[in-house]
Parts: sequence; C-alpha cells; structure tokens
Amino acid sequence: MIQPTRILLIGDCSDLGSEPAAPLRKIGYEVDEALAGREGLRLAREKKPGLVLLNVALPDLNGLLICKEIKSDPALVGTFVVLISKTSVSWEERSAGVAVGADEYLAKPVMPRDLVLWVQAMVRVQQAERERRAGEQRFRALVERSSDAIAVTNAEGIFSYVSPSTTRMLGYASEELLGHSAFDLVHPSDLPAVLDQFRRLQESPGGSESGEFRYRHKDGSWRWLEGIGTNLLADPAVRGVVGNYRDISERVMAQQASRASAEKLQMLSSRLIETQETERRHLAREIHDEIGQALIVLELNLQSMLQKPAAAEVAPQVKESVALVEKLIEQVHGIALDLRPSMLDDLGLVPALRWYANHQAQRANLRTVFFADSLQTRLDAAIETACYRVGQEAVINVVRHARARELTVQLVPEDEHLHLLVQDDGDGFELAAVQEAGATPPRLGLLGMKERVSLVGGRIEIKSAPGRGTEVHAWFPFNYSDRADDPVLSPPSSLP
Ligand SMILES: Nc1ncnc2c1ncn2[C@@H]1O[C@H](COP(=O)(O)OP(=O)(O)OP(=O)(O)O)[C@@H](O)[C@H]1O
Ligand SMILES: [Mg+2]
Repeated sequence: MIQPTRILLIGDCSDLGSEPAAPLRKIGYEVDEALAGREGLRLAREKKPGLVLLNVALPDLNGLLICKEIKSDPALVGTFVVLISKTSVSWEERSAGVAVGADEYLAKPVMPRDLVLWVQAMVRVQQAERERRAGEQRFRALVERSSDAIAVTNAEGIFSYVSPSTTRMLGYASEELLGHSAFDLVHPSDLPAVLDQFRRLQESPGGSESGEFRYRHKDGSWRWLEGIGTNLLADPAVRGVVGNYRDISERVMAQQASRASAEKLQMLSSRLIETQETERRHLAREIHDEIGQALIVLELNLQSMLQKPAAAEVAPQVKESVALVEKLIEQVHGIALDLRPSMLDDLGLVPALRWYANHQAQRANLRTVFFADSLQTRLDAAIETACYRVGQEAVINVVRHARARELTVQLVPEDEHLHLLVQDDGDGFELAAVQEAGATPPRLGLLGMKERVSLVGGRIEIKSAPGRGTEVHAWFPFNYSDRADDPVLSPPSSLP
C-alpha cells in the first residue's frame, strides 16, 4: 500500500535547497533519499512513497525511464512523480515527461520554505486523487458485482456505460451496446411508453421513473425487464441517465401461465355446469314423460278395475294400490321438478322461482313473501339458470337449517343487474366459522352459489349472524353473453 506521508528524493535535489529533506521531515514526512536512479527505483518499490521528487539528470539511468518504471508498476499506482530540472524546461521536454506519466515538472530552483508549501499542496491533490480513485473502485465493485444490470446513457439515450451483469442478462458484450441507442432493442409495443418515460426523465433532473418492458436478448428472444431510471445528467460525477434493471421474465411467464390455467379451470367449470343442466333437463323429461305417464295409466287402470263387479273382492287392495300410485305420481313429479322445472325453460325465471319458493315454504310451513318486478323479456338462459339455482339453494337452506317463520324472495332489476334476495328470520349462522370448518361430507351449497354467480360475471353477498336471520344477495348482469373466445382451445399465452 502506498504510504501517503512518505517522500522519496531521487538524484541531486540540491536546487530544492542544500538539505531538502530536513524541512519536510520537520513537518512530519518520512523522507528517503537516493542519489542514483537504480537505488531510487529500489527504494520506491520497497517504501512505496506517496510522492517522488525525481531529478531528470541522474548519474546512471535516465530520469524519464525511472518515472516510466514507477508509473507502470501496479504496486505503485497512486504514487505522484514530480520531475525536477535545474534549467528551464522546453515544451518537448515537458511533453516527454507527460508521456512517461509524470504528474508535474518543476523547472526552477525552489526555496526550502516554498518547497514545504508546495509539497503540502501536492500531497493534498494526491489525497483527493486517492479518494476519487477509492470511490471509483467502490462504485465499480458494487456495480460490477450487482446482479442487476446497470447502464448509463447520455441525454439522448445513447449507452455510455454498461455493467458486466448487463452482458450476462442480455448476452451482448459491452462494445456491442456502447455508443448505440438504448431504445433500439426495446419491444416495439413497449417503445412508446418507454420513450414517454425517458422524456419525462429528461425534464426532471434528479427524478426517477420506473416500469416494466420487453428487451431483445442477443439470442433473439424477448426478456421482461423491471427497472428504474434516474436522471443524473446534472451530477458532475455521473453526467448521465442511470438505469437499474432486473430480469423478471420467469415471474411474468409464471403469472401468464397461472392466469391461463385459472381461465381454463373456469371454462371447464362452466362447461361442467352446462352439461349437468342439460343432463338434468333430459332426466326430468324422461322421469316426467315416461315414468310419470306410465304411473298415470296404471292409476287409470286401477280406477277402472274398481268399477268392475268382479273387483268387489279385491277392492281394498286395489284402493290401497291407487293411493300408492297417486303418491308415487306426486313423488315422481316432485323429483322431475327438483331436477329441472320445465317451467324455467317454458315460462322463465320469475314463475319458476315463485313456484319453487311457495312449494318449499308450504312443505316447511313457512310464511312466504315473493316479490318480483315483472321482467319484460326473457334473460339469457345461462343467467336464468344460475339465478334459479342460487335461489333454489338459498331457499332449501332456509328450509333445512334456519328454523324460520318467514321467507322472503325478491327479484328486482337494479341498473345493469338483476338483484336476487333470499331472506329469512331464522337462527342465522356464523359465516366465517362455516367457511373455515372442513365438514365431512363437504358442504357445497354456499360454494356452489358463489361459483355459479362468478361464472356468469355476477356478485354474491351473504349476511348472517347467530339469532339474526340470513340474507343472501346475488347480482346477475343483464348484458351477459357467453364468452366467444375459448381459452381451453386457444394456445396458452406466452412471451412474444
Ligand atoms: N339460511 C340459513 N340459516 C341458517 N343456517 C344456514 C343457512 N344457510 C346456510 N346455513 C349454514 O351454513 C352451512 C353451509 O351451508 P351449505 O349450503 O354450504 O351446506 P349444507 O346446506 O349444509 O349442505 P349442502 O352441500 O347439501 O348444501 C349449513 O350447514 C348451515 O349450518
Ligand atoms: Mg345447502
């Protein structure tokens, strides 16, 4: 390490005073002296002085050669060399000194007291230079070891510095970027926004702008970068716009993939519900038309048997059978309606839900208030089905769990939505506890309601508290149209 307070005098330095070392030692410098060039070079390497005062005229070697040796020795980086000459120095001699790295050329005889002042000033300059160098080394160490890419551009966006991590991140050697516009490799779709940000940066000295954009890698692929640019054009130490970037391609790809799979799942879910509804409609029709009709024929046959005189003997059994068949007809009818009331397809949502609510309330001995603004037109089949199923589940929950006296069902248009409300004055429940508890078998009612509502782009809100009844609100969009673009079939989105 260079010793800042050490001075080496090489050669005849008598023009700096009869004993030039003495006043320097007096103010605290350690001074070594060598009369010849070789000895001077040896001492320089051994003592590592901060300042060398070197007489150009030496008995053994040329002073310029010694200067060159000192300045090119990596162990002596930071050592100041001042050349001394008795006579005045020509321009050529000066430039020869500069060429071998001399920091100063002292040509006139100097008084001892001036020498002290002069050396002190020189040491201060040297100290400032050392600090600047250390700062630069620290900056380089930080910048070059950083995993972020760091780049500096001028006011026009031309690269003036790129860190080694930029090369690692984007594949270009620094020479391939230096002197080129930083915007040349920005993705065309992101370029307008990036240019806008750069323009804003230019207008705000010291200000910063951050953003995400795509940048072309040397291999031709696009990388997502996230970064922040700072305008340090007015800072004399930087004089540039400093950008700090990191590669977020993996994160962006993962987000895109998970978005795509969420869309696929939603699509599958809605397909499943659609298929289930079709199947239910089919089953309801089969049960109603086939089994129901057969039972009616059976009942008619039994009734006509009762009219026959020969049936008197078996009349009690036939009557019992008629009653049984009537019960069966009613049950079959109920099953078909539960599966999918033909009323929903034939007459629409309001009559179907009204019938269902009244029918269930009657069975459970509940007072029912059903209120619906008449809907002018039929809604999209998917909306009608979703709304009917949510209403159905909410009503059946009241019957099964609420121990209520009154059930209210409302269907009211509100702006762009149809608002369904199913309310009871029963026991209520702790919503959070129900949602947290993992029941076996799992409870699907509330979950199913949420799923149905979200699949048609609606919203649901359940309000309940123990002893305070329950309100189920659901809003369904009037302008629902089944999504035309099917993410199941389209290829997963990826980086361009
Ligand atoms: N109107 C209500 N009044 C009181 N408790 C209710 C009401 N609605 C729901 N709950 C409570 O919330 C729980 C969850 O309801 P959910 O409909 O999800 O399941 P479930 O009705 O028990 O079973 P299923 O899967 O057959 O619907 C119910 O078990 C019940 O404790
Ligand atoms: Mg339920």
